[in-house]
Amino acid sequence: MGKLEGQVAVITGAASGIGAATARLFAREGARLALLDLSPVPEELQSLAAATAYAVDVTDADAVSGTMDRIVDDHGRMDVLVSAAGILDEVPFLEMTPERFDRTIAVDLRGVFLAARFAAPHMVAAGAGRIINIASQLGIKGGTNLAHYVAAKAGVIGLTKALAFELAPKGVLVNAIAPGPIVTPLIDGLSEEWKRGKSAELPLGRFGRPEEVAPTALLLASSPDGDIYVGQTLGPNSGDVMP
Ligand SMILES: NC(=O)c1ccc[n+]([C@@H]2O[C@H](COP(=O)([O-])OP(=O)(O)OC[C@H]3O[C@@H](n4cnc5c(N)ncnc54)[C@H](O)[C@@H]3O)[C@@H](O)[C@H]2O)c1
Repeated sequence: MGKLEGQVAVITGAASGIGAATARLFAREGARLALLDLSPVPEELQSLAAATAYAVDVTDADAVSGTMDRIVDDHGRMDVLVSAAGILDEVPFLEMTPERFDRTIAVDLRGVFLAARFAAPHMVAAGAGRIINIASQLGIKGGTNLAHYVAAKAGVIGLTKALAFELAPKGVLVNAIAPGPIVTPLIDGLSEEWKRGKSAELPLGRFGRPEEVAPTALLLASSPDGDIYVGQTLGPNSGDVMP
């Protein structure tokens, strides 16, 4: 019997990287999947565990709201939300335009807010649910040329704590994951030199893989394993940050 047998899990950013790895693991654990992404969700993922795919921009409030309602119509329930949609845009602070700042905040922070805002009512109505927001260790430690990303990810950690206070009494547990560097298309644009230097400074000596982040999401999604995690930020990060 899988750890998510009979449950419906919504995953944003499901077409790639951490979202896709989480989809694969959750399917193996018996979940039915609702896969949201701006990009087309690969066939391989759509054929998992009664999965349905939804082309959604997480910055579009009406689209996110309508999609959450549709998922409950399509699947009959909603048990877990994993917000993994995100973008990374490197630019020095002194060259950062307000438009670039706004875009990263819109996807990486507002998108997480919108998904939770329109998923939570369905979970509260059922008296149970799990919301797992993918932040980043950079939201804890800061980083160069990523002021908007760092601000968004710190915002996700704060948002997670605030939602945890309000929703835990209603049966919905909200937590975050702050991964370290993970080999996904998100970091394709970073130079090989930076990646070599960064790997060398990690206590583990290497980046993580998306399949090594997904089990943390499974822990937070499942019961009884995740039953007393509330407002936490867990760190699968190769030792880069030790809070
Ligand atoms: N890769 C890393 O090193 C790393 C480290 C820490 C945190 N993270 C976070 O993990 C999450 C997943 O990133 P990943 O590394 O798997 O990257 P990825 O690029 O492989 O996947 C991100 C997905 O989000 C989707 N997406 C982007 N903008 C969207 C939008 N507006 N609406 C809907 N979908 C959208 C993309 O199409 C893509 O499929 C992100 O929030 C990222 O910030 C990644």
